[in-house]
Amino acid sequence: MRVVDLIRKKRDGEALSAEEIKYLINGYAQGQIPDYQMSALAMAIFFQGMDKRETADLTMAMVGSGEQINLSEIAGIKVDKHSTGGVGDTTTLVLAPLVAACGVPVAKMSGKGLGHTGGTLDKLESIPGFEIELTSEEFIQNVNDVGVAVVSQTGNLVPADKALYSLRDVTATVDSIPLIASSIMSKKLAAGSDGIVLDVKTGSGAFMTSFADAEELAREMVDIGNNLNRQTVAVLTDMDQPLGCAIGNALEVKEAIATLSGRGPADLQELCLTLGSQMLVLAKKAATSEEGRVCLQEAIRTGQGIAKLKEMVAAQKGNPNAIDNPTLLPQAEKIVELKAESDGYVQKIEAIDVGISAMLLGAGRETKESVIDLAVGIVLRKKVGDKVQSGDVLAELHVNKLERFDEAIDLLKKAYTIGMEKPILKPLIYEVIK
Ligand code: URA
Ligand code: CA
Repeated sequence: MRVVDLIRKKRDGEALSAEEIKYLINGYAQGQIPDYQMSALAMAIFFQGMDKRETADLTMAMVGSGEQINLSEIAGIKVDKHSTGGVGDTTTLVLAPLVAACGVPVAKMSGKGLGHTGGTLDKLESIPGFEIELTSEEFIQNVNDVGVAVVSQTGNLVPADKALYSLRDVTATVDSIPLIASSIMSKKLAAGSDGIVLDVKTGSGAFMTSFADAEELAREMVDIGNNLNRQTVAVLTDMDQPLGCAIGNALEVKEAIATLSGRGPADLQELCLTLGSQMLVLAKKAATSEEGRVCLQEAIRTGQGIAKLKEMVAAQKGNPNAIDNPTLLPQAEKIVELKAESDGYVQKIEAIDVGISAMLLGAGRETKESVIDLAVGIVLRKKVGDKVQSGDVLAELHVNKLERFDEAIDLLKKAYTIGMEKPILKPLIYEVIK
């Protein structure tokens, strides 16, 4: 096989065989195929696409490039959740303990944030002492003892994706549905859960801004999972404005605590109930999503959800008192209010601008090497549809360093559109794809 012939084949719109795909992925992961040939191939895939069979073969080839986690020592049906990423997406912090409180083991590997999207691990690290690096044995032990663990990746999972994703990032080939679907699903499959619930976001703050693209991506991923014997469900959700009110690490932990206590923002709570009920159905803890929802609501009402979070924090060497007393979490030195300059309704909050504004305050990483400030971020006091009067507080900026504050507040101001007409609210949940 010659790589150049395979690039030409894809360039001319032909389908690659399973064997050819494996040859390309293994060759690239092992450093035998150079970046320039892989870039050309990625661009050919970008323009020509891949059929379902090719996408499934690509996913399997990527899974096969590294280790796979074996969760068989954890009893029960393990269900994972993945979000395609958004701004202020606090759901994992709520869902992992909440679903575990309903009796479903949650063995979750998560990531750090980059750019305008935050990462669950950074949020968890704002809990004093919290340890995100566990060995595979400790990880499995914790899930067996507590019912839930959220950790950074253990083992060398999908090295082909690591290399290919970085290459796509600098060659304008990220936004290709077969490449995204295989990238996400290969990581989920290698992580070893039996079932997968995908939160596929659409809207201006999402990675797939158009609804049609998000829907196609969701279907593609559901097909891959189900064809490879992992029950997979996707929920298409809105990411036009940030989720919940808090954007920033410790601030989002506080928001998760509030949500688990039944005092959280309505949209975050609704999304957690929707995704969580699908997780309970896949784990066979509930016959229907309605039944799953009741179980989750009970876990909130009785305090079992928040108790599970505390247990998880303690098991990962964090200070569980921070859950009862969030003032033990990192706090910014200063809170600056952004005020409305006119009367009307909030018509729009550009999620991506809020995400970048929080990043400028230090809550997110501009590059992989950036050091983040866990205390800082943004709390939205008004969301889309809210009525405002001139002088009302739209949002709070939680600030430590002033270096890029002016840029951050300008961007946050620009993120808000206020107009006289009451906007028609978009649904938060569009569709569940099975
Ligand atoms: N997230 C991933 O993990 N991979 C992609 O290709 C895009 C988003
Ligand atoms: Ca949030």
